[in-house]
Amino acid sequence: MNVLVFASRKGGSGKSTLAAHLASYIANPSRPTLLIDNDPQGSLSLWHKIRNQEYLGLKHNVRNIEDAIKQAKRDGYEWVLVDTPPNKSAIVAEAIKQATLVIVPTRASLFDIAALQDTVAIAREHRKPYAAVINAAPAKHGDTEAHVVADARGALNALQVPVWAGQITHRPELTLSLATGEGAREYDANSQGADEIGRLWTALERSLNAIHNTYKKAGSSRAA
Ligand SMILES: Nc1ncnc2c1ncn2[C@@H]1O[C@H](COP(=O)(O)OP(=O)(O)OP(=O)(O)O)[C@@H](O)[C@H]1O
Ligand SMILES: [Mg+2]
Repeated sequence: MNVLVFASRKGGSGKSTLAAHLASYIANPSRPTLLIDNDPQGSLSLWHKIRNQEYLGLKHNVRNIEDAIKQAKRDGYEWVLVDTPPNKSAIVAEAIKQATLVIVPTRASLFDIAALQDTVAIAREHRKPYAAVINAAPAKHGDTEAHVVADARGALNALQVPVWAGQITHRPELTLSLATGEGAREYDANSQGADEIGRLWTALERSLNAIHNTYKKAGSSRAA
């Protein structure tokens, strides 16, 4: 089972947006997926309500996330995506404890990168694989990243925070699609937003395979 936890104590970094787009990418009849919306703001619950998709389940405000994930496994889910509130509360730590991979969305600004360190510290404390994803970034010019993105990447490298090599650009389709309960690909499969979410998904699949192989070699069932 894969448990992806979206966490960042910085509000508005893109936790719910990335969770929704990736969920719509992952969920299909052969990949039953559960969303756990553990942010009291309920953004994902709202999106899910409009969406009404059979093989994408939803639980919200789950008190015992460990039990909820065990139950999800019994119910046949292979993927669980957990959205968390923008703080360092026990809700966040409990979710991170259950993660196969923690995704830490961040905007490319000094304040966001400063705030991200608190979330990274929780992942490190619980020895959980994590990666930052630069979100809502200014568009590239050709292959060249905006200065602010290159600077953010440099700061993350200096902090030894693994960061996805790509970026999710600030794009209207990533917001508009959510308003109709869709993901970027469903809204417009040819959009640049759909392309970037697809690239993120490919990178995540690769990372998850590497994580599972590492656990297998170590003879551990933690990521099973
Ligand atoms: N790549 C993007 N392109 C355009 N708009 C975006 C992008 N990412 C996020 N947004 C917008 O930024 C706002 C904050 O995003 P989102 O709600 O996903 O952040 P969050 O980290 O879940 O926030 P919170 O911490 O409050 O839960 C939303 O209005 C969302 O539509
Ligand atoms: Mg949110």
